Amino acid sequence: MRKKVSIIGAGNVGATAAQMIAQSGIADIVLFDIADGMPRGKALDIAEACPLWNSSVSVKGSNNYADTKDSDIVVIAAGFPRKPNMSRDDLLHANADVVKAASDAIAKTSPDAIILVVTNPMDVMAQLAWKATEFSCRRVMGMGGILDSARLRTFLAWELNVSPEDIEVIVLGGHGDQMVPLPRFTTVKGIPITELLKKKTIELLIHRTRNGGAEIVNLLKTGSAYYAPAAAVFQMVKSIIFDEKRMLPCAVYLNGEYGIKDLYVGVPVILGKEGVEKVVEVKLSKEEKSHFKESCASVRRLVKKLSI
Ligand code: APR
Repeated sequence: MRKKVSIIGAGNVGATAAQMIAQSGIADIVLFDIADGMPRGKALDIAEACPLWNSSVSVKGSNNYADTKDSDIVVIAAGFPRKPNMSRDDLLHANADVVKAASDAIAKTSPDAIILVVTNPMDVMAQLAWKATEFSCRRVMGMGGILDSARLRTFLAWELNVSPEDIEVIVLGGHGDQMVPLPRFTTVKGIPITELLKKKTIELLIHRTRNGGAEIVNLLKTGSAYYAPAAAVFQMVKSIIFDEKRMLPCAVYLNGEYGIKDLYVGVPVILGKEGVEKVVEVKLSKEEKSHFKESCASVRRLVKKLSI
């Protein structure tokens, strides 16, 4: 039987993720949104593209959580995106209400689902979704590290004039400006970038990656990035549905790993049919450890603000 993926929030990220899943034919999709009619319109449009993609999946739009019943995976991409001069943290309270409402509904309608949280500030929203649903932490995670990695891979590929496919990146910590890249584990087909680029160049590329979201917000003016975020969601969905056990950086619950307790933050994990099947721990240098701790502290500050 085909898996069922429900996407809460049929905006730019949600609808684009739905498109990618439909196009690949890997799951039936329900697009949910509070906006009247809109998710049905987008779902109909995507469904009408399926014959052209040779895809037989079902794509349904809805304003009713009952339609998301018994989903295998639920993606939470509902809420408000950033506007110019707005940080992800400015979104905190508005999006917390949205994520709490979505989590309460999912807990009732899809009690066995795996939840992928995209809504920003993502690490905090993942922790909120976990608390609100009371699901096992293996089944609730946030999308962020894959996007940060993809951005860094892109900039490195341009700098080195190689395919981004050959670039592997590990990032830790909070999503976006708080990310902690690990240049010594960032390689081109196994060759650390520290062997290929000057320290200054690496720093510049990391700086651009950190501000990757804001760079796009400032260009778009009316919304935030969605093609790459949706592609990152798609990679997670695929790794879970096909039990690929990809090692991907995701925001997951740490309970002592990396010396951090009771916090959702980005680390490399193995993603399979059970959700987060393993947290992969790498030994950090003193400097990396201190950057990671700083990043965790800023995520924790927001968690405290919400009294999660
Ligand atoms: N329940 C369901 N959907 C909701 C709710 C809610 N309570 N509140 C808002 N929405 C819907 C909106 O109607 C809108 O269609 O969420 C959608 C958000 O879509 P966009 O505004 O296009 O935002 P998008 O770019 O998709 O980003 C969504 O992901 O990357 C993050 O920072 C981003 O938090 C933002 C989220």
